Amino acid sequence: MNVTKRTFDAVIVGAGGAGLRAALQLSESGMRTAVLTKVFPTRSHTVAAQGGVAASLGNTTEDNWHWHMYDTVKGSDWLGDQDAIEFMVRKANEVVIELEHFGMPFDRTDDGKIYQRPFGGHSQNYGQSPVMRSCAAADRTGHAMLHALYQRNVRANTQFFVEWMALDLLRNSAGDVLGVTAMEMETGEISIFHSMATIFATGGAGRIYYSSTNAFINTGDGVGMAARAGIPLEDMEFWQFHPTGVAGAGVLITEGVRGEGGILRNDAGERFMERYAPNLKDLASRDVVSRSMVTEINEGRGCGPDKDYVMLDITHLSPETIMKRLPGIREISIQFAGVDPIKGLIPVVPTCHYQMGGIPTNFRGQVVVPKSGNPNSPVPGFYAAGECACASVHGANRLGTNSLLDLLVFGKSSGETVVEEYRAGNLSLKALPADVADASLARIARLDGQKGGESVHDVRLTMQRTMQKHAGVFRFNDLLKEGVTRIAEVAARNKRTEIGDKSMVWNTARVEALELDNLVEVASATIVSAEARKESRGAHVRDDAPDTPERPNGRDDSKWLKHSLWFSAGSRLEYKPVNLTPLSPDVESIALAKRTY
Ligand code: FUM
Repeated sequence: MNVTKRTFDAVIVGAGGAGLRAALQLSESGMRTAVLTKVFPTRSHTVAAQGGVAASLGNTTEDNWHWHMYDTVKGSDWLGDQDAIEFMVRKANEVVIELEHFGMPFDRTDDGKIYQRPFGGHSQNYGQSPVMRSCAAADRTGHAMLHALYQRNVRANTQFFVEWMALDLLRNSAGDVLGVTAMEMETGEISIFHSMATIFATGGAGRIYYSSTNAFINTGDGVGMAARAGIPLEDMEFWQFHPTGVAGAGVLITEGVRGEGGILRNDAGERFMERYAPNLKDLASRDVVSRSMVTEINEGRGCGPDKDYVMLDITHLSPETIMKRLPGIREISIQFAGVDPIKGLIPVVPTCHYQMGGIPTNFRGQVVVPKSGNPNSPVPGFYAAGECACASVHGANRLGTNSLLDLLVFGKSSGETVVEEYRAGNLSLKALPADVADASLARIARLDGQKGGESVHDVRLTMQRTMQKHAGVFRFNDLLKEGVTRIAEVAARNKRTEIGDKSMVWNTARVEALELDNLVEVASATIVSAEARKESRGAHVRDDAPDTPERPNGRDDSKWLKHSLWFSAGSRLEYKPVNLTPLSPDVESIALAKRTY
């Protein structure tokens, strides 16, 4: 097969918020930058982010970054690295004001400042009362953000390769990263993108689950490519289930609805969160709210004919507030639940939403791996940002609207790091080994040559149902063990997938099969890491690790206050320490405690 070669100073895979923010940094500093994306940039999954981006601007209620840092560390159940968290929350105001200057149409307060709303787990004065920290453009914040960033990139001459799917990460024998192979989805053309710096910003992989708020494109491509290239995956056992997916449809109903005053109710109409989180109630952190909802359902207080969802109530808000602050939610509710929330209650259920783990990075956006006794040794030429990366600022549970903040801060910092290294002469275009594209060509040839194999659809469905049952909101020792076996079977079947009559299929069938390779890496990392972690922490709650006085919330800090690293080769695990030391010497570390809201 003919392989063309293209050379750039930097290649970015993914054109969501993180990819666009990184690209802007590079292009504006004069680096020749290519961005590869499976969909048109403004259709990337960031477009679906609704409720806001966190920053302690304090426009309506008093706020500061110390409170934001405390909330994020506590929300992470102490698994977040405190240096990276401090870096992120201190940069928040800067990256949001920058966006405002790029033309992002934020909602406004009466005195013209950026509008902010409360969100789960964000508080004033170290947990005392909700704070208005999430900067919002109605309930379409991600949409507005993508458009602002895309237009800015067009102005900066970023070169976009639209409807190109990256296939594999290219490394030489020293482990340096040299770029990627990619396929043009329309023509099937394979190309090598050779570069001094490669930034992955491919988003999450929520499609490993059956019920997900994620777009169909969220197939963990960067995470899968990194794993196949020998990079370990960090903390993959931690998946966030958003409390309010539309029951039966999975579409996201923003937490901003509860920020504006929405209330969760069970079949008796009771505001049940008062029992589980007496202080922050419906605005407790997401893992807490999702578990409370599932407990209500499991104990027979769910709604509907099968009692398998609860209700989200905003009928007490004025129609004007709903139309002004939550117009997209009203539309989603009418279209997907058949309910106008001005008059009726929205049926909701916890739905897979976000991957807390990913490709290990530091706060400068460099990908880091264990090497020569250093658990965080940078991989030359390789960077990652956004949901595919694990900085780790979310630890075992992310706070709402810290995701858009993460992709802005670390998109920018990965770009800044590349520019600094380039200007210091530390980046160079390293020679491509002769066989550098062979792995990608072999994957394509295997698919094209496969006869009478497994259906991609069937293997994917088995994986999604297995993950839903075996690694959901509550986790059980026996189900986790069985899940490891089931996903290993899925991985074996995935090696025999076929794409049907080659004369009849377009490249979509090939793309779906190649995406499944990535999803299977992510599902394997998740189930193996989850089975191995014998404690409850954040979004990972096991039946055999309950809340006791010795083990607050089921955590076992003496054994498990550590990050997991899953290696694809041999499906093995290693661990590395959590960084409990903030970046600045004068900032105090946030001490371990029981998590209550
Ligand atoms: O609920 C939401 O609007 C989602 C925000 C987030 O995941 O950060």
